Amino acid sequence: MEKLLIKGGNRLSGEIRISGAKNAALPILAATLLTKETAVIKNLPHLHDITTMLELLGCMGVHTVVTEDMSVEINAGTLNNLTAPYSLVKTMRASILVLGPMLAHFGEANVSLPGGCAIGTRPVDLHIRGLEAMGAEIEVVDGYIRAKVNGRLKGAKIFFDTVTVTGTENILMAATLADGVTILENAAKEPEVIDLAHCLNAMGAKITGIGTDTLRIEGVESLHGCTYPILPDRIETGTYLVAAAVTGGKIKLKDTDPTILDAVLTKLREAGAKITTGPDWIELDMEGRRPKSVNITTAPYPAFPTDMQAQFTVLNAIAEGTATVVETVFENRFMHIQELNRMGANAQVSGNTVVIKGCEKLSGAPVMATDLRASASLVIAGLIASGETLVDRVYHIDRGYECIEEKFQNLGGLVSRVVRGAE
Ligand code: UD1
Repeated sequence: MEKLLIKGGNRLSGEIRISGAKNAALPILAATLLTKETAVIKNLPHLHDITTMLELLGCMGVHTVVTEDMSVEINAGTLNNLTAPYSLVKTMRASILVLGPMLAHFGEANVSLPGGCAIGTRPVDLHIRGLEAMGAEIEVVDGYIRAKVNGRLKGAKIFFDTVTVTGTENILMAATLADGVTILENAAKEPEVIDLAHCLNAMGAKITGIGTDTLRIEGVESLHGCTYPILPDRIETGTYLVAAAVTGGKIKLKDTDPTILDAVLTKLREAGAKITTGPDWIELDMEGRRPKSVNITTAPYPAFPTDMQAQFTVLNAIAEGTATVVETVFENRFMHIQELNRMGANAQVSGNTVVIKGCEKLSGAPVMATDLRASASLVIAGLIASGETLVDRVYHIDRGYECIEEKFQNLGGLVSRVVRGAE
């Protein structure tokens, strides 16, 4: 069984390149179902979730060719199966993103309901209600969402009760081919939603209000092919910045975008980091200092991202002072806390809040990754712990971090992949 072995103590220093954003790549790959022409998607990250999405498209008969420069050419003209099976959807909730495009383009879609999820119940009711408001007939039978529409979907005004990222993306994609105008209110405005909207416009969609919480989509009869580069991954960027900060190090991240990380950079500065930025790079210098505690409250963009909460919890675990971390997006996203406490952290969970009293040192231990970002936080904890930390269930990490051990090694972090039996 593969595990990550981390030997703590090294201060990170050096330069690495940031990959394309997983959470932009997934909806953009799904969006290629909206046209019969070839789309070329560039700057694709090399990740398990991306392979799963390509496998999903492949099992529907879609033709995909991955080239050596991490681009993929996709042609949905060969699609011959309108079902996203449970075997793939259960491994990745974001598979639900094929629902809107398939229904809008082919008038029918059968998508397995995603199963339970480690970080909360994460329902898809808002995706379903949005498509119903556009005239789809949807029933849930035998664990599958079976959606149909007679002719084209119809433009509609849709208000999301909760800000939902993939929900906004699903309805946005469906609306591009609807008959008439669709208005999405209280839409998510994450940079990945913006990237999808720009890609759809490059395919001939008519979307305005991009980057605001009200999107206006004038439906068109068909979309065409395009060549589109995926934006840099802000969560990967933030994860390496936190890793450098906790080790007192100095690193430069290239091929990233500092303008989509305001909330994270603000908190890192508050923790004592010196940060300089250029058009596509960020440099962080901790000058050997121990970070200061920073209070965090997660919320939809542009507020502090829930996907960076676990990493900042580790920062607070070894910081000077006491911090409060409030998680408002998902109800069960503190599973890393128990593992961090086993490494010597002093963190108490109460409802959606954790109070963390910073301690000077963590100690290495065998730990269990529970979800993608929680596992990244355990690797960071390992980097500052004394001795060795062995992170089990690394498949969670491989879903969202490209070549994590190589990237840390390039920065001087002692992270390696080992094969060991269950312990
Ligand atoms: C996306 C991201 C994930 C990130 C999350 C929040 C992708 C592939 N994943 O997940 O990394 O952590 O946004 O930034 O982009 N909700 C409902 N009903 C719905 C849909 C959502 O109640 O139909 C609730 C969820 O339970 C959650 C909240 O809305 O409490 C936000 O979830 P959502 O934004 O939908 O998360 P995802 O799109 O699944």
